[in-house]
Amino acid sequence: MALLTVLCYPDPRLHKVAKPVAQVDARIQKIVTDMADTMYEAPGVGLAATQVDIHERILVIDVSDSQNELMVFINPELVWVSPEKKLWREGCLSVPEYFDEVDRPAVVRVRALDINGKEFEVEADGLLAVCLQHEMDHLQGKVFVEYLSMLKRTRISLKLKKRAKELIGER
Ligand code: NI
Repeated sequence: MALLTVLCYPDPRLHKVAKPVAQVDARIQKIVTDMADTMYEAPGVGLAATQVDIHERILVIDVSDSQNELMVFINPELVWVSPEKKLWREGCLSVPEYFDEVDRPAVVRVRALDINGKEFEVEADGLLAVCLQHEMDHLQGKVFVEYLSMLKRTRISLKLKKRAKELIGER
């Protein structure tokens, strides 16, 4: 099992735009395995490659209660979003211990490649819809706190910078 280091907001690397995966090969499959291990260990319901400083369009998601239904999305694309929106309280492994509400389309349809490079499409609502949009934002270099007010963002940045210093101090 290989655990990857998750970047923490406001790390500038979280704002890099990920490149499409050219070919789903053994290298990509290894990245997916390591990302899944990292997500389950955290624990989290989703992880984008950007968060582990790999700037390729790869997501792993598991919204099941039992945490044994891994979903892999390579080169995900939003093909449809519902006009209806829904407020959801979101969190992020890159923004530890902070949760806030974001308004997003309630239902989305996403097309992607699976772990074998085969194309598939999924229509999602509820937590999976939120998670897909949140993780796809990461691939565009966007963190969910960027939907919040400047004041909140500044507070979060200061708090996390302080937290990072304290963690270094503890080592
Ligand atoms: Ni996140």
